Amino acid sequence: MRKPILILNGPNLNLLGTREPHIYGSTTLAEVEEMCRRRAEKRGFTIVFRQSNSEAEIIDWIHGGINGADGIIINPAAFTHTSVAILDALHMVKQPIIELHISNPHKREAFRHQSYVTLAATALICGLGVNGYPLAVDAMADLLEARKGAAQES
Ligand code: DQA
Repeated sequence: MRKPILILNGPNLNLLGTREPHIYGSTTLAEVEEMCRRRAEKRGFTIVFRQSNSEAEIIDWIHGGINGADGIIINPAAFTHTSVAILDALHMVKQPIIELHISNPHKREAFRHQSYVTLAATALICGLGVNGYPLAVDAMADLLEARKGAAQES
């Protein structure tokens, strides 16, 4: 039986829509969640969508995903550039991981060019605005379908 795709969002993303709209746009996180849910449903998947400003809470959710999710999509926000603890948690995840950013951090300040999370990620989507979220759901569905197909053949 399929498990949900876990979609995790880091600090300050609760204020999406009003937070630096020239960088992050005017869509709220609730609207992004709805976009993801609709895209997942179309593909026959379910999602669990979470946001926290607390590193510890995000780590606990990653731990839950080790056995409780088929894949993890994570926008770690500022923790991307600081958190070895989130990287270590992601290293325990065997399922596909997609790192996601609304902006393109590589076009921004130098401190955003470093991502710890990339070291554990299967793939990276960035710079597409909030449209990156449903795209990540589609990409995750593709990865999971390909995995299932390969498992059935062997
Ligand atoms: C972000 C990029 C990070 O550098 C920043 O700290 C964020 C959002 C993005 O989605 O573009 O909070 O992850």
